[in-house]
Amino acid sequence: MTTVVQEKPRAFPIPAGVFAETVTAVTHYTDRLFRFRMTRPPSFRFRSGEFVMIGLPNAEKPVYRAYSITSPSWDDELEFFSIKVPGGPLTEHLKEIRPGDTVLMRRKPTGTLVNDALLPGERVYMFSTGTGIAPFASLVRDPETYEKFGTVILTHTCREAAELAFGMELVDMVRSDPLVGEFARDRLVHYPTVTREEFARTGRITEHIGSGRLFDELGLPPIDPESDRGMICGSMAMLKDTRKLLEGFGLAEGSNSSPDTYVVERAFVD
Ligand code: A2P
Repeated sequence: MTTVVQEKPRAFPIPAGVFAETVTAVTHYTDRLFRFRMTRPPSFRFRSGEFVMIGLPNAEKPVYRAYSITSPSWDDELEFFSIKVPGGPLTEHLKEIRPGDTVLMRRKPTGTLVNDALLPGERVYMFSTGTGIAPFASLVRDPETYEKFGTVILTHTCREAAELAFGMELVDMVRSDPLVGEFARDRLVHYPTVTREEFARTGRITEHIGSGRLFDELGLPPIDPESDRGMICGSMAMLKDTRKLLEGFGLAEGSNSSPDTYVVERAFVD
């Protein structure tokens, strides 16, 4: 989707060596969460699941924060999913952006939540809480994910049901997507849960893994290093607890240089 948006005048010069891109769309989901899209520099390449440093041209020395790119690597725009941190040096201003505004982006994407850091497998579990769904939004839209893994299980846990909206929209979109819809309709499984209000499925994902409820509901055997892979993205506490559970099943942490059976990255702006 390409939208032509008029650029607005800028108060500060663009720092050398960064991309200055134009916001094309902003969606606010709750008073804590929003999504924005912006133009993509023609020379910018990334792997689905990677993150970049994002800032605003509102100071001589802009503040940058890491943001996972939620759009797939083939999209002609870039999309991000953000929390609004009260008093946060970047998000306090970023939450006010509108189409036509400028967003700065450092040139080099990086990250470990990439298909390259995992060995192929029958199933990949993508465990996310809050904005930790961001890198997976890119990966579930990438055909390579369905080439490498038979079934893709995306779990998303939030405090409130309204915070699941980005993920719900994403999964609907992926299932009707011309490029990956055919795979996703049969092989993408969405497992949302809520922890602080009533919902069809409640409780932390760690409880669902620990009790075996996750596997019972999906009709799958417990995680096995022979067939299953894991990707984890959430708060530090969530990473620690989920990592421990995966290691209990015998999974071992991989990296770009040494792919293995699970990978981890914290959801950055929190
Ligand atoms: P809870 O409501 O029980 O704290 P946050 O917005 O704080 O990052 O939380 C996002 C979601 O992650 C919440 O549903 C929260 O549950 C859950 N969560 C927080 N800590 C952990 C943890 N250590 N393990 C699993 N889930 C967690």
